[in-house]
Amino acid sequence: MTFDAHAIAKDFPILDRTIRDGKRLVYLDSGATSQKPNVVIDAESNFYRLNNAAVHRGAHQLAEEATDAYEGARQIVANFLNAHSEEVVFTKGATESLNLVAYAMGNAEPGNRFHLKAGDSIVVTEMEHHANLIPWQQLAARTGATLKWFSVTDDYRLDLSNIDSLIDAKTKVVALTHQSNVLGTINPLEAITRRAHEVGAVVVLDACQSVPHMAVDVKALDIDFLAFSGHKAVGPTGVGIFWGRAELLAELPPFLTGGSMIENVTMTTATWAPAPKKFEAGVPNMAQAVGLGAALTYLTKIGMENIHRHEIALTAYLLEGLAAIDDIRIIGPATTGLRGGSISFTLGDIHPHDLGQYLDSQGIAVRTGHHCAWPLTRKLGVPATTRASVYLYNTTEDLDALIAGVQGAQKYFGR
Ligand code: ALA
Repeated sequence: MTFDAHAIAKDFPILDRTIRDGKRLVYLDSGATSQKPNVVIDAESNFYRLNNAAVHRGAHQLAEEATDAYEGARQIVANFLNAHSEEVVFTKGATESLNLVAYAMGNAEPGNRFHLKAGDSIVVTEMEHHANLIPWQQLAARTGATLKWFSVTDDYRLDLSNIDSLIDAKTKVVALTHQSNVLGTINPLEAITRRAHEVGAVVVLDACQSVPHMAVDVKALDIDFLAFSGHKAVGPTGVGIFWGRAELLAELPPFLTGGSMIENVTMTTATWAPAPKKFEAGVPNMAQAVGLGAALTYLTKIGMENIHRHEIALTAYLLEGLAAIDDIRIIGPATTGLRGGSISFTLGDIHPHDLGQYLDSQGIAVRTGHHCAWPLTRKLGVPATTRASVYLYNTTEDLDALIAGVQGAQKYFGR
């Protein structure tokens, strides 16, 4: 199909509203959360209107319909990732998915391949957002393992020069982001997965900022676990995905325990159902899972390659437009090679929060702050940045509005 961002924007009712005294809403904060198309809003509300019942439990028609809708959504996610449906676990978001895998590893007994102890290492990167850093810090603290990390270079890439010493025979886990939510940098996974697998470590990919924006094939990437959030991929809030290779999920202990995740229970013991049930205790977020299925179906119809191409074109346009403004510092790669559409910048000595407020007064929504990646902003030597993040519904008019807004801010603040 021909890609038409103006037509796509019409699918998203919120983009029709005005903001701040009748100004057109220019939404450039999809890195924080994306807007939702009608098909997703309808899928979620229709589930409540028509099919709502607890899945996998009832002996009645509604329960059957709800189970079919929920399991149908799982199959859609599996197809989207080129995975098997029994490898797809519904969580309430990427943060829960990453906590799930880290806590589950912490529950592993000696003899289990996921058991960590003093002397082992967990490798992350300096560009992680907190959701893919703190769970590993905590796992290291609980097990005595050492937390190590790849540094970020002056050109906003991972420094792989010490990869062979950083990932060594003691490394059990390498957890990293596919695409930085601050820098937009897309990480070179091949070298990292190759080295991790050479030493027997597993690779956990935080795909929050990649799955919504480009085709992600878990088999082709040769990773072991992956996490993403539905709400960043035009889906509902309150639903995320944890994916893992079937043979690894079979060995990974559970995180949350309770109903649905068991095989047999006595007063003193319990055994676990196979994955994915083992990781889905309790009545799940059914309506949200169904909404996520609708979201991924919507993205698939448009085509992830088309979406990615559109975002790269927008990114090139914005990088060029911003670079022409005096005192702009782009915090991230200056060109579109191995880079996505999260564009962070500073503007002279204008504090990002002031700039964000000024842009908001013009109807332009961006994010300001440390973007839940405090160690990275600290390393970059900036207190905060302003971040514009683009998605399939953005147009060059949105970017022109941002560029004009940034120029307006310079005048407004007298620079
Ligand atoms: N990690 C999300 C962001 O980048 C919250 O905005």
